[in-house]
Amino acid sequence: MAKDKVTIRTIGSTFPKTEVKTSCGKLTLPDEYEGQWFVLFSHPADYTPVCTSELISFANRREEFNRLNCELIGLSLDEAHIHEEWLADMEEKFEVNLDFPVIADEEAELARRLGLIHQSEEARTERATIIVDPEGTIRLIDFYPIEIGRRVGEVLRALDALQVSDENDVTLPANWPDNELIGDDVMVDPDEARERDSKRQLHGDWWFCHRQL
Ligand code: BEZ
Repeated sequence: MAKDKVTIRTIGSTFPKTEVKTSCGKLTLPDEYEGQWFVLFSHPADYTPVCTSELISFANRREEFNRLNCELIGLSLDEAHIHEEWLADMEEKFEVNLDFPVIADEEAELARRLGLIHQSEEARTERATIIVDPEGTIRLIDFYPIEIGRRVGEVLRALDALQVSDENDVTLPANWPDNELIGDDVMVDPDEARERDSKRQLHGDWWFCHRQL
């Protein structure tokens, strides 16, 4: 494994340009998905139970990602031939189509550049999810512990919310579109709300104003 300095990427940073080996051949990221969103999800190790369940859950909802102009790409430090064997075994055992690429980051080059290496177990990646927009900007980073599989529906919700936020220049509340207080309404920026309130254009507290999309 290469001993490059570990980088921590933050939301808003550019996805590092990297050529990767995958279960579907070589790709250059983020260029491969220019003009599209992509979700990169890393898993700790092939042929492990929670990771198996996650790959299958992502595969089962792949069409929903695609409808949001988004591709899926997995990543671990396992070798490409191990990925291929594991993916084929899962396809056969669970009758699922797993034809999205899974990066074989054998030298941990991309994992290090993204800050995805587990701090005390150098030989594995974290259970991380990174959403990247069509300009190659990292828009969301999420880490889950080794013991718990991710909820794929939340990744889809966050992707949808990011797109709605971008398209309408709005912010979205907790659990959107099913917020306990305001349903599928969106938030009004406090500065804008205060100004509109002073002109009596808006009722309610300036720090919690909402409207329909
Ligand atoms: C898993 O179940 O995903 C897992 C188990 C042990 C090590 C790494 C992953």
